[in-house]
Amino acid sequence: MPLPTSVKLFEMAPRDGLQNEPGGIVPTGTKIALIERLAKAGMTHIEAASFVSPKWVPQMGDAAEVMSGIKRQPGVVYSALTPNLKGLENALETGVDEVAVFGAASEAFSQKNINCSIAESLARFEPVLERAREVGIRVRGYVSCVLGCPYEGEIAPGKVAEVAKALYDMGCYEISLGDTIGVGTPMAARRMIEATRQQVPVEFLAAHFHDTYGMALANLYAVMEEGISVIDAATAGLGGCPYAKGASGNVATEDVLYLLEGLGIETGIDLQAVIDTGYWITGQLGRKPSSKVALAKGRASS
Ligand code: HMG
Ligand code: MG
Repeated sequence: MPLPTSVKLFEMAPRDGLQNEPGGIVPTGTKIALIERLAKAGMTHIEAASFVSPKWVPQMGDAAEVMSGIKRQPGVVYSALTPNLKGLENALETGVDEVAVFGAASEAFSQKNINCSIAESLARFEPVLERAREVGIRVRGYVSCVLGCPYEGEIAPGKVAEVAKALYDMGCYEISLGDTIGVGTPMAARRMIEATRQQVPVEFLAAHFHDTYGMALANLYAVMEEGISVIDAATAGLGGCPYAKGASGNVATEDVLYLLEGLGIETGIDLQAVIDTGYWITGQLGRKPSSKVALAKGRASS
């Protein structure tokens, strides 16, 4: 298929980026400032928080304060993870724009991450979608471990397609396919999309690739050739999943933007502003961005 002419970028740094931050709890004010900077840089979709159990993911324990504290920009969708009805009700109280449920193509990962089987998770998501429909907000769905699992190893593309279809049939408006541990390579990524788009129209699919093995950009190029036009990425390449040991961050937004600009694909996002934001947040965390583009270009003032 020809490459897309425009791509929707879904920014993950405040949620996927910070949920696994090892250097202590990131202050609420820093999270809010990050989200506001990302919106200013032109991001239209920001995953801002996660209404999960604070016992499971302490870094996201201030989700309500974060969501309520953001100065919202018109035209920006601020979303949050909600694994169950309790998470959804808490998120709704903060005026969240959109929520996401998250399942997996691996039974073992499902158990480790959300403490239930794949089938139980899908049953748990049903009332979340029903309640979201009642209040008129959209629900995104994730499938984790689409190119490999830290516990089960290889994952069959057919299993990814099956779980994606279940989320689609339930009413998720978009299904984001997560290479949670960043082990995929382009041919495998292509095969996984080929299998999944037989069950879910490709315009409803998104790519959520972690960059552990440095393959994420190559994989993104491959899946864009398969019709993918929604990409999840995290500024400065922040992130990881607490229940996927050794997994590094999402592909860096700066690197994706540079790739897309080179391909003449429109996003509406200011690359230099994202680079500067990446330097700012990693400065707060005591390190440097892991984006190669950010390191090569440097911040605007330097
Ligand atoms: P559980 O222990 O089975 O839940 O956890 P439970 O329903 O039995 O409840 C136990 C306790 O948790 C109760 O409190 C509940 O009230 C509380 P207690 O009575 O003991 O005081 N509880 C909650 N508290 C706050 N918010 C909630 C909530 N739900 C229950 N929503 C649960 C099940 C799903 C809650 C837990 O396993 C959990 O929070 N897991 C989250 C794990 C997580 O956040 N992982 C990272 C995000 S996923 C990811 O990163 C992958 C992704 O990026 C895509 C990719 O890369 O592949 C999306
Ligand atoms: Mg992720």
